[in-house]
Amino acid sequence: MVRRVLAGQQRVLFRTASGTLALLDAYCPHLGADLGVGGRVVGESLRCPFHGFCFDVAGACVSTPYGGKIPPTAQIASHPVREHHGLLLGWVGSGTPTFEIPALDTTGWTAWHAHAFDLATHPQEIAENSVDVGHLAAVHDYQNVAPLAPLAVDGPQLRARYVFERPRPLFGAARVRAEMDIHQWGLGYALVEVDVVSLGVRTRQLVLATPTTTGRTYLRIAMAVHHIAAPGRVHPLLSLVPGGWLANRMASAAIRQYAGDVAQDVPIWEAKGWTDRPALAEGDGPIGPYRRWAKQFYPVA
Ligand code: FES
Ligand SMILES: [Fe+2]
Repeated sequence: MVRRVLAGQQRVLFRTASGTLALLDAYCPHLGADLGVGGRVVGESLRCPFHGFCFDVAGACVSTPYGGKIPPTAQIASHPVREHHGLLLGWVGSGTPTFEIPALDTTGWTAWHAHAFDLATHPQEIAENSVDVGHLAAVHDYQNVAPLAPLAVDGPQLRARYVFERPRPLFGAARVRAEMDIHQWGLGYALVEVDVVSLGVRTRQLVLATPTTTGRTYLRIAMAVHHIAAPGRVHPLLSLVPGGWLANRMASAAIRQYAGDVAQDVPIWEAKGWTDRPALAEGDGPIGPYRRWAKQFYPVA
């Protein structure tokens, strides 16, 4: 497996024959080929498609086809990468990660059902959605939105919890009541646990925003549903279907609906400007505390 991670990000992700994952800058230090376009894994190294130099997981050149001395500058920057709960998470910043995303127990959950957007926006705008209570009603038609707990921040983590109702159909029900527990880590990773209490259905959503080039963000969203303990509660006609099968069908339908929700935000994100001093009003949600928390992710020059 060799994958060019993102066009603007110029990094390449690969897994060696023994299973080690690596994330390197994409351009070969020899004469500049893109290792993600035609590069091949050879044992524990990545072979450049242009002249065949090979690089290990730390980005050091370990061989050339000429067999002579390896140039001392034949070294590529490598970046930390983790594998957790079905995700490959790369560190976009410089240096070593300043925090770790906790791994999730996926026992009893469906696989992730995913969707992606390539957007003209910034990860901070996307994460701000989770505390922008006013837009939940105005953009997404949520009703009776109320906080279940005050916004909590702890270093790189932010947690917000709400209850809401949704008049649009979900899983066959015309109206649902749900509780949303948002765990935002940094500006690029959010786990949103949504319990549809009115149906006895538990879901997990991921919001993964990666900055690519200036002004652009690659947004992946994903959805998993916990195996349904009482399918008959979702709909009487489903009482005999297996809970795991139903969960998968629901995850597949729910990611489409979730992508539709995000699509409602997209034209606003892509056209909006940045308001450094927003004219906040009562009912807005904790946007001020969120922005103070977010400042930690911008290194001071
Ligand atoms: S450009 Fe990579 S080996 Fe020459
Ligand atoms: Fe939104």
